[in-house]
Amino acid sequence: MGSRLVVLVSGTGTLLQHLMDECAAGRVPAEIVAVGADRDGTAALRRAQSAGIPTFVCRVGDYPDRAAWDAALTRACAGYRPDLVVSAGFLKLFGERFLAEFSGRCVNTHPALLPSFPGLHAVRDALAYGVRITGCTVFLVDAGLDTGPVIGQQAVPVHADDDEAALHERIKEAERVLLARTVAEMVSKGWSVSGRTVRFGGTVRSGDARKEGQR
Ligand code: GRF
Repeated sequence: MGSRLVVLVSGTGTLLQHLMDECAAGRVPAEIVAVGADRDGTAALRRAQSAGIPTFVCRVGDYPDRAAWDAALTRACAGYRPDLVVSAGFLKLFGERFLAEFSGRCVNTHPALLPSFPGLHAVRDALAYGVRITGCTVFLVDAGLDTGPVIGQQAVPVHADDDEAALHERIKEAERVLLARTVAEMVSKGWSVSGRTVRFGGTVRSGDARKEGQR
């Protein structure tokens, strides 16, 4: 049986769409068992719904505080028994409960070459700095802001006439491919975490990674 993925989204969901397509084509040997969001009415949720994938929404404003929201999000994800949670443009930081449950088996993607330009405005910050090369990073989520162990990166050139939208679009083309390829490697080969090093093909597969990461 293929691995079970829960994908978390906030926006237009083009990364989600590519992952859905790659799973459907069998190039990512996994099933997206649910798509969760922190807001209603997004294009990303509509993409999941049109593909017949169950969705859920967990809005911060519906809970008394951030910790209660984080606990609810954790329960909602855990209910689908995922081997891996994929944060694909999910614009919220995870809290303690979520990390206790999913650390070591939650990947995030970021539109810059970390540790450069962490945070919400990575593309704008890279442009403002004047770098000639930027890119994208897929990493294991930890308690920091885009600080977890790097799993994969792809460089993307900055063009002289780029604005934020044009550069972000070029990065997202690379990001979709990198994310799907990374998830495919993780679910097909397993992975292990030692300090900041993530290796494919270790003895650890999917749900066991958390225990390995904590050793
Ligand atoms: C990606 O660049 C992701 O890294 C960032 O938001 C973008 C998501 O795009 N946080 P989409 O919603 O999948 O089109």
